[in-house]
Amino acid sequence: MRALGRVAWAWLLLLQLAGASHVVYDYENLEVEAAADTVPPSIVDPLLRTGYHFQPRKNWINAPLYYKGWYHLFYQYNPKGAVWGNIVWGHSVSRDLINWVALKPAIEPSIASDKYGCWSGSATTLLDGTPAIMYTGVNRPDVNNQVQNIAYPRNKSDPLLREWVKPTHNPIIVPRGGVNATQFRDPTTAWRHADDGHWRLLIGSVDSAARGVAYVYRSRDFKRWTRARRPLHSADTGMWECPDFYPVSRAGRRVGVETSEAEVKHVLKNSLDLRRYDYYTVGTYDRKAERYVPDDPVGDEHLLRYDYGNFYASKTFYDPAKRRRILWGWANESDTAAGDVAKGWAGIQAIPRTVWLDPSGKQLLQWPVEEVEALRGKSVTLKDRVIRPGQHVEVTGIQAAQADVEVSFEVSPSALAGAEPLDPALAYDAERLCGVKRADVKGGAGPFGLWVLASANLKERTAVFFRVFKAAGSNKPVVLMCTDPTKSSLNPNLYRPTFAGFVDTDISDGKISLRSLIDRSVVESFGAGGKTCILSRIYPSLAIGKNARLYVFNNGKADVRVSRLTAWEMKKPLMNGA
Ligand SMILES: *[C@@H]1O[C@H](CO)[C@@H](O)[C@H](O)[C@H]1NC(C)=O
Ligand SMILES: *[C@@H]1O[C@H](CO)[C@@H](O)[C@H](O)[C@H]1NC(C)=O
Ligand SMILES: *[C@@H]1O[C@H](CO)[C@@H](O)[C@H](O)[C@H]1NC(C)=O
Repeated sequence: MRALGRVAWAWLLLLQLAGASHVVYDYENLEVEAAADTVPPSIVDPLLRTGYHFQPRKNWINAPLYYKGWYHLFYQYNPKGAVWGNIVWGHSVSRDLINWVALKPAIEPSIASDKYGCWSGSATTLLDGTPAIMYTGVNRPDVNNQVQNIAYPRNKSDPLLREWVKPTHNPIIVPRGGVNATQFRDPTTAWRHADDGHWRLLIGSVDSAARGVAYVYRSRDFKRWTRARRPLHSADTGMWECPDFYPVSRAGRRVGVETSEAEVKHVLKNSLDLRRYDYYTVGTYDRKAERYVPDDPVGDEHLLRYDYGNFYASKTFYDPAKRRRILWGWANESDTAAGDVAKGWAGIQAIPRTVWLDPSGKQLLQWPVEEVEALRGKSVTLKDRVIRPGQHVEVTGIQAAQADVEVSFEVSPSALAGAEPLDPALAYDAERLCGVKRADVKGGAGPFGLWVLASANLKERTAVFFRVFKAAGSNKPVVLMCTDPTKSSLNPNLYRPTFAGFVDTDISDGKISLRSLIDRSVVESFGAGGKTCILSRIYPSLAIGKNARLYVFNNGKADVRVSRLTAWEMKKPLMNGA
């Protein structure tokens, strides 16, 4: 088991925990048993199970696809919750990305080249409209030897794509010529150049110098694939899992782009196995040389992340129905393994996000798909409310455990002038900066923001906030966005890092917005219109269900104006029968 790639390991862990009464692996087992009697009763409260975030009845991974009016999500799933040979591709369908119906599994181990595992992959729509799924199979029990397989729908007229068949020419790609067979996985969606008629796809790997690598494979017929001489890109980061590569409109328009032919930039995303976060760069794809070059020469030092919180192994797909690119990410749990066993479920998907290029061209913007707004129910609004230094104001009149909050803040020029100096030693380390300057540490311009999933006496509260600094030398305002869960729960056995990212926004007019999707044990926040995003898992012991409250707070030295805040209760959609 130790030989497994870490992402597979993480999935496996979750899959087994989710479904299993016995946990079959070895060293984690000890920890689970040791901790088993310390699971606080609040952890198993059904009101902590997320309400409108995608989750199967038990567990997963993803490959999204749109076909004949239906969105499809495929995810790794263990129906028996037993040994890992049982892992199958679970399958759910939706008309609106919000209400989900579970179908029977789409892909199960059944051939020599996937007998010991059907791992992550992607879907590609071929020229005649046929969808194809390409996925990593494990074909040996002793070492984890990874090959790539393909499957097609049995009946193309079935919009639900209920049955998948694996042609006899599987596996279609095997590790050869110096490729590390134990680190060779997660094929991307393929793309095709009309001028040479070749399809291309990427496979994530690591080379002998520990550089993360995205190999390019090419095919004319989608059957015989050959590796390009050089990888699309590589960087000194360790293994690249779940690579994703796609065009975005250079004009910074919100519409998605399907092919590389228009005026586009490209985005390359990799899930860094060593760091467990999803990093991306914006750059140029040289089609002739089959190479990708990030615009920012230090981009590969991974300054940009989709999400500065709990978000991994994500994947995008192009939605032709609404001409947009949609990003799906996976968020694991932050309670103990024993807690997961006790509650019987683990792992959610983030709310699908529309992604597009920021007009600056330097980064992406992300926003929850508009469909999620259909879940909005009863609402309350605050307007022109001044929050004085040290003050907090409760937002009452809705149940706040399952809510969507949009707020526009305004800090005055004099408040900005009183911003704290930014310690140059922390100027590139948002997470550490937030760890030092937490929500309760008084500042100049901020910290200000929301306390979500808070208890009545504020013993429990999770802060989602901004803090403005002055850059050394230039005095230019630097905005930090932070989620501070250190006071989120009286339960001591939780992973609760202060997640944070800088927000590349011009705050000289004093204005900044925040949106938070709160869903019982998760808060997913979008700063400055989706420039910086943070997903955090939280398990209150008091602020559960009707006892969860919402506040606006200001711990800065100057007034902060809430020009407008609207909070909606969120309804529960159909969620795979759970
Ligand atoms: C294929 O799917 C269509 C649409 O669901 C259905 O009407 C038809 O009976 C299916 N054909 C077979 C052979 O299952
Ligand atoms: C493959 O990668 C793993 C993990 O990085 C490493 O331990 C192993 O030595 C590599 N194998 C080869 C043949 O390079
Ligand atoms: C999942 O949770 C643990 C903490 O329990 C964390 O250390 C790990 O890095 C998380 N993320 C992923 C992608 O596995």
